[in-house]
Amino acid sequence: MKEKELQIRNIFPDEANIPELFRMKDPVVQREYLVNGEMRRWTGEMQEVVSPVYVKSPSGLSENVLGAYPLVGEKEGLEALEAAVAAYNSGRGLWPSLSLHERIASVETFVSEMVQVKEEILRLLMWEIGKSYEGGLKEFDRTVECIRNTFGAVERLDRSSSQFIVEESIIGKIRRAPLGVVLCMGPYNYPLNETLATLIPALIMGNTSVVKPPKLGVLLYSPLLKAFRKAFPAGVVNIIYGDGKRLVPPILRSGKIDVLAFIGSGRVAEIVKSYHPRPQRLRAVLGLEAKNPAIVLPDADIDAAVKECVRGSLSFNGQRCTALKILFVHSGIAKEFVERFADEVSSLRCGMPWEKDVFITPLPDADRIRYLGELMKDAEKCGARIVNKSGGCTNITFFYPALLYPVDSRMRIYHEEQFGPLVPVVPFDDIEAPVRYCIESSYGQQASIFGRDIAALGKLVDVLVNQVCRVNINSICQRGPDVFPFAGRKDSSEGTLSVSDALEAFSIRTIVATKDVNGNREIITGIVREGSSSFLSERKS
Ligand code: G3H
Repeated sequence: MKEKELQIRNIFPDEANIPELFRMKDPVVQREYLVNGEMRRWTGEMQEVVSPVYVKSPSGLSENVLGAYPLVGEKEGLEALEAAVAAYNSGRGLWPSLSLHERIASVETFVSEMVQVKEEILRLLMWEIGKSYEGGLKEFDRTVECIRNTFGAVERLDRSSSQFIVEESIIGKIRRAPLGVVLCMGPYNYPLNETLATLIPALIMGNTSVVKPPKLGVLLYSPLLKAFRKAFPAGVVNIIYGDGKRLVPPILRSGKIDVLAFIGSGRVAEIVKSYHPRPQRLRAVLGLEAKNPAIVLPDADIDAAVKECVRGSLSFNGQRCTALKILFVHSGIAKEFVERFADEVSSLRCGMPWEKDVFITPLPDADRIRYLGELMKDAEKCGARIVNKSGGCTNITFFYPALLYPVDSRMRIYHEEQFGPLVPVVPFDDIEAPVRYCIESSYGQQASIFGRDIAALGKLVDVLVNQVCRVNINSICQRGPDVFPFAGRKDSSEGTLSVSDALEAFSIRTIVATKDVNGNREIITGIVREGSSSFLSERKS
C-alpha cells in the first residue's frame, strides 16, 4: 500500500494520542434554549451530535458522540418569535429606543463574555466541524475584531448623519432607523463568524432577533447562551435549536419577520423567502453559492500561482464559499501547473484538527463524501484523470484532495459547487473560454486572475468586474479584510456585507423634514434644544 494511503488509513487517533488540552471531556448535552431572556429547559426530543473525528478503539474506529441539542417544536419557535416581536414592540421597545451608546455597551458586554469561553468554542469547532485549531482561532479572533470595528463604524455613520440639511426650502434630518425583527441563520463552515457578522450589526442598529444555529456547529452556541442572556435585554436575542424544516416555515408564515439574514444554499433561501405572506416586505441579506474561478494566464509566475491556488481551493478542505472552485489554466503551462499543484498537495499536512499546521481534516457533512465521489466518477467517465497520488482516497469522514485534469463542460464538476477538496483544472487556449464561463455561470461572487502582462490583466479586470464583485490579482478569493465589501452577483448573494455595509443592510434611511416656513425652524430647534426627540437630537448616543 502506498505511503499516503497508509497514512489515510491510520488518520484517526488513538484516544491516548489526543493532547489533553484538546480532548472533549464531558458530552455537551444542551438542554436549554434562550427565549425572552430565560433559559428554557427542554424535555422533549434531542438531536445527538456526532463528531467527524473518529477515535481508534480495540474493536476498530469508533464514533464520538459529542453531546445533544434540543429539537424544539413549532410552538417554541413561535414563542421565540413573539419574544422578539414584543422586544421590538413596533420600534417602541426598550432596545430600539436605547441610545447607540447603550446598545454598544451591551454588545461590549457580550464580547467580553464570549472571550471568556474562547477555548471551549475552539474545542467545539474542532470536534464538531473538523476545523483546525488554527482555523478556529482565526475565525474567533476575526469575529471579535469585526465586532469591535463595528463600534467605530456605527459611530462614524451616526456622526455623519447628525447634521440638518436644507434643500429647496425643506429642512431635513436623515438618519438610519432599524427594520424590526431579524431571523438570523448562519452556515456550518463558519458557524460563529458568519452568524455574528449579521446578528451583531442587526442588533447595534436596534433590531431584535431570532437565531437558529446551523445544522452542524450547534454545540458551540451552548457556552454563548449565557453571554447573550447577560448582555441583552429580554427578547432581543432568542436562540432556538431544531430542525429548520419544522421551525422556520411557521416563523416566516407569521409575516412578523422583517429581515432574513441567511448564509447557505440558494434553494433553501428561495423556499424560506416564499413562506412569507408578503415576500416583497421581507428584506433579505443572503450569502449563497459560488463557483469562483481562477484564470491562470500563460505568463503567470507558476510557483506563486500554484501556491495561491492550493490555498484558495483547499483551505479548510475547500469548504469556503469564497474557495476557488474551478481553475482555468492556459494550455501552454497547464501540464507544468498541474504537476506542481500535485506536488504541493502531497506536501499538505493531513490529520486531526488540533495538529499544528494541519491543512486537510475530516469533513463534517456525512453526505459530502458520497457527493464528491460521484462528481469524481462522473469527471473520470468523461475523460478527466485524478492527477495527484492517492487523490480521492477516503476513510469514513476523511477525503484526500483530488486534482482533476483535464476538465471540460460535459462534466458535473464544471458546473456544480463541490464545496470540498476536489480541484478541477480546465485547460484553455483562448481567453474567451474562461470569460464565457464567468458570463454564463449562475454565480458571480469573485474571481482570481494570475499573470504579469499588464495589458492582458487590465483588460481582463475590466471584463470581470461586470461579472463578479471582486477580482483578485495574483491572489486567492476571500471575504476579508472585513472592511471590504462582500457581495455577489446573480445567484451568489443578495445585499452587501462588510463592517459598514452590514449596518446599512439592517437599517433604513429615514427622514424628518419640514418646510422652512411659519416657525417650523423654531419648532425643530426647540425639539433639539429640549431633547424631546432622540431621532432629532444632536447625537443619538
Ligand atoms: O464561506 C464563506 C466565508 O465568508 C469565507 O470567508 O474568504 O475569509 O475564508 P474567507
